Amino acid sequence: MADSTAPSVLIVYYTYSQQTLSVAESMASRLRERGCRVQLAKIEFTDPRYAPRFSQFPLRHAYRDIFGMVLPQFRGVTGQIRIPDVAGAGRYDLVCIASPTWWLHPCMPIRSFLESDAGRKLIGGKRCAAVAVAHRYWRDDLRILKKLIVKQGGDYLDGSHFTAGGGPVDSMLALLSYLSTGVTKERYLGFRIPPATLQPSYVDQSRAFADRLADRLAPPKSW
Ligand SMILES: Cc1cc2nc3c(=O)[nH]c(=O)nc-3n(C[C@H](O)[C@H](O)[C@H](O)COP(=O)(O)O)c2cc1C
Repeated sequence: MADSTAPSVLIVYYTYSQQTLSVAESMASRLRERGCRVQLAKIEFTDPRYAPRFSQFPLRHAYRDIFGMVLPQFRGVTGQIRIPDVAGAGRYDLVCIASPTWWLHPCMPIRSFLESDAGRKLIGGKRCAAVAVAHRYWRDDLRILKKLIVKQGGDYLDGSHFTAGGGPVDSMLALLSYLSTGVTKERYLGFRIPPATLQPSYVDQSRAFADRLADRLAPPKSW
């Protein structure tokens, strides 16, 4: 039976190609081992302007679909989303927000949640953490997640980031290859490419991050 005094954690995430979900599930599993009650809440992207392209995997028109998000992402455009009930205002000891990086920023569905009334109600006054999941360029995503959390009244504790491997050019080719074919290949357009999915170290790294968070949630030891 669940211990009602156990710290309660909610991980709010969006995922398109399941990498952020993998991190969220790995963190959830470690947090449960550490005695926390953990729920996952996926933000659904429903915006008629932008969401249809993300309704199937792989992308139907990878270049057009990815590059078509440049301007809205850099402008911080928000769109229609569906928020699961569990992410309505609730009594959580920690809320962790996990976002894929889209054009250096938190993805539109997560920004839309963080800027919504529901996001403010959930986050306001609560301890929060953030996770950026990128192919390579995670830094601005994590910085902006922290900024939006603090703006909504959250008490930001900590953040972490997860990436796939490779250099600037070959990792970009690997991403385009993966999102246009749905499989990991060794070559794309004649170039050797690194794996497109997260580096295997994400498992240990996400468990270590979950440990750091669990340490902060543990009640102070009585003397
Ligand atoms: C529209 C779009 C834009 C992206 N922009 C970036 C980027 O600027 N930097 C980066 O490192 N990865 C970028 N990526 C790659 C994703 O951040 C990366 O594949 C991530 O693991 C996806 O998470 P998900 O599988 O949970 O959807 C982009 C992906 C998409 C679909």
